[in-house]
Amino acid sequence: MNKSFEPEILSICCKYCAYAAADLAGSMRLSYPANIRIIQVPCTGRVDVIHLLNAVQGGIDGVYVAGCLEGECHFVSGNLKAKSRVNRVKQILEEVGLEPERVEMYNLSSAMGSRFAEIAAEMTEKIRQLGPSPLKLKLRKSA
Ligand code: FES
Repeated sequence: MNKSFEPEILSICCKYCAYAAADLAGSMRLSYPANIRIIQVPCTGRVDVIHLLNAVQGGIDGVYVAGCLEGECHFVSGNLKAKSRVNRVKQILEEVGLEPERVEMYNLSSAMGSRFAEIAAEMTEKIRQLGPSPLKLKLRKSA
């Protein structure tokens, strides 16, 4: 494991829950790793397989989708669709020889600011253990 490796991680957050939880974490002055880049979506149901694959192909070290708790999606089943797409992407990564753990799905509520910070730390630690994305290294070599 390379301790100096700072993974680049994309966090795709539903505005009703995870994004609000990130805001709350900020208000609570909870610290979480600075290497997490957050993108807000209206619902995780908007996140498609191709979006996740594009992120991985672009050399991101890890990406996670954070949606409302199951049963609490404002668009009924967007988070369930996201979960199944994340699982599909995990399968694809495995098929092409990449670690499926680079892509994850989490569920949380807007009140879970500390959980948001925990997830960010968990994901950072996990990706740090895996090391840089092989695709990132390949992209750097060909640049
Ligand atoms: Fe939050 Fe659908 S509205 S995951």
